[in-house]
Amino acid sequence: MKRVLITGANSGIGLQLARDYRADGWQVVACGRNREKLEQALAGIDAEFCVFDMLEFDSMQQAVSELAPLDLIILNAGNCEYIDDASRFDAELFARVVNANLIGTANCLSAMIPRVKRGGRIAVVSSSVTFLPLTRAEAYGASKAGLDYLVRTLGIDLAPHHIAISLIRPGFVDTPLTRKNDFPMPGRVSPEQASAAISKGLAKGKAEICFPFAFITVLRLLSWLPHRLWTRLARRTVRSEP
Ligand SMILES: NC(=O)c1ccc[n+]([C@@H]2O[C@H](COP(=O)([O-])OP(=O)(O)OC[C@H]3O[C@@H](n4cnc5c(N)ncnc54)[C@H](OP(=O)(O)O)[C@@H]3O)[C@@H](O)[C@H]2O)c1
Repeated sequence: MKRVLITGANSGIGLQLARDYRADGWQVVACGRNREKLEQALAGIDAEFCVFDMLEFDSMQQAVSELAPLDLIILNAGNCEYIDDASRFDAELFARVVNANLIGTANCLSAMIPRVKRGGRIAVVSSSVTFLPLTRAEAYGASKAGLDYLVRTLGIDLAPHHIAISLIRPGFVDTPLTRKNDFPMPGRVSPEQASAAISKGLAKGKAEICFPFAFITVLRLLSWLPHRLWTRLARRTVRSEP
């Protein structure tokens, strides 16, 4: 039976992936930083739990070192916070988001690459935010742009080790992470749709999985605009001081 490890498996996209891979007959290693939350979210699902905070490297390495070899790792856990007022740039918020998304993923890679079987795959959940500079997304966008570079480079350097890499760039997905947003989220899909797009892309061995198609196409077209024109358009959505 194939084995998949999923981080952030107690909520949103990760939870749906855990459900769907299990339903597809995979052995699922569900990771989260809180055992109670994991047990509650995955009640009734036959999954192995692995509890760690991605930012606590030693305890994570300990938890992961005992795992049997894996066919697929989906590094999905992450966080989003926005910079509300760039004129009072919040470096603590910036560090929090970069740590959660970029450093946390790097910690996972360090501990987990040795657990991947020859011929296995590592998938990392980035975001479609990196197609364009979007207002208030300085921290989130920078953390995910860092992930994009990291993952594409790993795709080159892990190939000789027979480990494949996939970069996942979702548009808006209806999860606890986006439910706190106070702005329109065009093309928002359900976690079920997100999980289906991800697992289908991974089964095809895609190096990059972007969805939903229509929203991503609009972002791609906008990303070809001259930078000055995009900046003028984007500024229209920036809130001015009350
Ligand atoms: N939702 C979207 O529209 C969207 C779009 C593009 C990309 N994404 C990306 O998709 C991924 C999943 O997001 P989601 O929407 O499913 O959000 P979510 O429901 O908030 O889930 C985030 C998961 O990450 C876990 N996590 C956060 N920091 C962690 C840490 N330090 N150690 C271990 N686990 C940690 C959370 O654990 P706790 O529950 O314990 O906090 C939670 O399980 C994220 O990387 C996000 O950036 C989401």
